[in-house]
Amino acid sequence: MIVTTKQLFDHAYGKYAVGAYNINNAEQTMGLFQGCIDSKAPFIIQISKGARKYTNKLMLESIIRAAGEIFPDAIFAVHLDHGDEETCYECIESGFYSSVMIDASHESFEENVAITKRVTDAAHAKGISVEAELGMLGGVEEDIVVEEGNACLTDPAEAEEFVKLTGCDSLACAIGTSHGAFKFKGKQSLHFDVLEQIRDRLPNYPLVMHGSSSVPQDEVAKINAAGGEIAGSMGVDVKEYLPAAKRGVTKVNIDTDGRLVWTRVHREHFRDNPQDFDFRPAGKVFMAEYAKFIASRNELLGSAGQLDALRESLAK
Ligand code: G3H
Ligand code: 13P
Ligand code: ZN
Repeated sequence: MIVTTKQLFDHAYGKYAVGAYNINNAEQTMGLFQGCIDSKAPFIIQISKGARKYTNKLMLESIIRAAGEIFPDAIFAVHLDHGDEETCYECIESGFYSSVMIDASHESFEENVAITKRVTDAAHAKGISVEAELGMLGGVEEDIVVEEGNACLTDPAEAEEFVKLTGCDSLACAIGTSHGAFKFKGKQSLHFDVLEQIRDRLPNYPLVMHGSSSVPQDEVAKINAAGGEIAGSMGVDVKEYLPAAKRGVTKVNIDTDGRLVWTRVHREHFRDNPQDFDFRPAGKVFMAEYAKFIASRNELLGSAGQLDALRESLAK
């Protein structure tokens, strides 16, 4: 069942975070749904502009609709990840997305407000919710690269003002994470002090954490042992997911970790089966491993086991 992110956030706020997972193809989608059903968790499917271009945006929609029929107990929202203004309008008009993200965080505060307000007005007219972003994460997302030095944490006073001026439904805040596999140079914690100040200025308001992959070091070691070269990568401490959720983070974005599962499975499979040229055996292993990975993340986010309670609350 497709629901809005607002419905998911109303149930989760202050208790747990909903996992928001990017998908690009059928195998990833099957693993995602299986993992969420196995762990009895609601979830958010994220589609980036790159994913919409990868095969065809209609193909992704069809895959998601099919997965919804294969897994009729699943409760999820369909969300545009890091949209520009034009793509947001396209998704709002499509009638398929339950929410969109307008990412104008690289613009000035005033321009970010103006763009976000236009998108929010258009989305609300169609009953769709809007995630916006304030502050700048480091790392790479689509065609935008933010150098470490230019990344800046969200200013709590600006966050309050931004939400008031735009009417956006949730806010992605920069609290120390970045996109991709190379987040930190050494051990680093989330900026809980900044998160608490934002929460205090925006009580009961859903906050979003991008760049939340944990980059498991055992996964990286296996990839490198099978021919990969991703030394020095580092991610978010998974023990910090739930404390962040208790402080108002209701959506946690995870993409890179799923790519690492794919890379490990395929590198190991073709290293161990050099004669193989059928992609299905590795694809089968990937779907099962991805489902296991998703279930493990839902446990850490506290969303595991929430499906029945959410279903009941939606029925009221
Ligand atoms: O933040 C970006 C997401 O990880 C999506 O990545 O734009 O390469 O699909 P992508
Ligand atoms: P990661 O690169 O940490 O998985 O972040 C994904 C993300 O924020 C998608 O919007
Ligand atoms: Zn992101």
